Amino acid sequence: MKVTVFGIGYVGLVQAAVLAEVGHDVVCVDVDQAKVDNLKKGIIPIYEPGLTPLVTSNFEAGRVDFTTDAKMGVEHGDLIFIAVGTPPDEDGSADLKYVLKVAETVASHMTSHKIIINKSTVPVGTADKVKAKVQSVLEEKNKALSFNVVSNPEFLKEGAAVNDCMRPDRIILGTDDAKAEKKLRELYAPFNRNHDKVIVMDIRSAELTKYAANCMLATKISFMNEMANLAERFGADIENVRKGIGSDPRIGYQFIYPGCGYGGSCFPKDVQALIRSAKTVGYTAEILESVEAVNYRQKEKLFEYIHAHFDGQLAGKKVALWGLSFKPNTDDMREASSRVLMEKLWQAGASVQAYDPEAMEETQRIYGSRDDLSLMGTKEAALDGADFLVICTEWQAFRAPDFDLIRNKLSTPLIFDGRNLFDPALIAEYGVHYYAIGRGLSV
Ligand code: UGA
Repeated sequence: MKVTVFGIGYVGLVQAAVLAEVGHDVVCVDVDQAKVDNLKKGIIPIYEPGLTPLVTSNFEAGRVDFTTDAKMGVEHGDLIFIAVGTPPDEDGSADLKYVLKVAETVASHMTSHKIIINKSTVPVGTADKVKAKVQSVLEEKNKALSFNVVSNPEFLKEGAAVNDCMRPDRIILGTDDAKAEKKLRELYAPFNRNHDKVIVMDIRSAELTKYAANCMLATKISFMNEMANLAERFGADIENVRKGIGSDPRIGYQFIYPGCGYGGSCFPKDVQALIRSAKTVGYTAEILESVEAVNYRQKEKLFEYIHAHFDGQLAGKKVALWGLSFKPNTDDMREASSRVLMEKLWQAGASVQAYDPEAMEETQRIYGSRDDLSLMGTKEAALDGADFLVICTEWQAFRAPDFDLIRNKLSTPLIFDGRNLFDPALIAEYGVHYYAIGRGLSV
């Protein structure tokens, strides 16, 4: 089927590559000429396992192409995805200007029926706005053409995006049109083989489903972080509590890992956006406001431990930091807990010696060169001459370090662990002091 994807960001690029892989004929449109040129050379703008070979092989096979030519893009696709960003505006609401711009572009250039599919995460009611925009431009241009707008939210996770897209656990279709539903079922048939994963519903429910999913997951995390803070005060161990409650299948083990807060481009933005849209319909989303507040505080947790441990005497300290990205298997630093920590350490006069397997360039791009930040080539080098170690991201490569080396390299044998990677009893055997979330200081 002929498909066009507007917006070559995370969601758009992965979706396009995966659709091409199963044989659809895909054109991606973006306003960024450099990004388009790079993609044609096989240079992928994001780090995502498995994405580079998928994009390049499909580009070479002629199943996916990249362009800035919106007219050509609109002519090409019978199905047109909107996958542009919806950044938060000043008050945290999702800004729809890019989504509505694509709607306008599609309407300006279309000469036949189109199915416009919204993949971007957008507030409830956006499909109606897209419909109204397309309709008004068509009327302005005296074009009597039909079209459908479908809500088809994306549930991929960074770091596992290709797999999530190839093997979705659900395909949500928000539509009021049987023909559009049929076309989308055909588009997704290759991903829907073992059992029917397609869930069809009205458009507004589909739009809310996306927010509800992310907000539920964010709630689980903030809830566990709250329990972690209580566990510490009660002298309990949150890791025992986690296992104890996860064994109840109604709760489950997933997304109940306490830590130094959730980050990324989705949870913080979506929780905030739903809080704001709730207000527009006269409702105060109290649970979500608390989820956000708990997370905000949790990102300061590591600094609090450090500050208290050293009685606020942090000026001149050199801190080894492992993990900069907001989670493993990505170079994404958006809303990463490491940023809150580094900025607080710098304010307190400490310097940071950091290592991350993927996010070093991104860190450099965000912070530039500064005297109080050194980016080191290996996790061991980050320990050189440092006073203590902090871990912000649970990369696999950090899970079984050489504790003797850590003890010998650090001036104070001390680890602050924001992701609870180690067994405190094991660390104690190496003579290393250890702080973990919801466990406090263990030796
Ligand atoms: C999230 C959702 O998991 C996806 O289903 C959704 O499609 C996506 O947002 C989106 O809306 O596009 P993502 O932001 O890539 O995906 O990352 P997650 O794996 O969900 O992790 C988010 C944050 O929560 C990370 O900072 C992670 O460290 C933290 N987290 C996760 C915890 O602190 N504890 C946990 O138990 C799980």
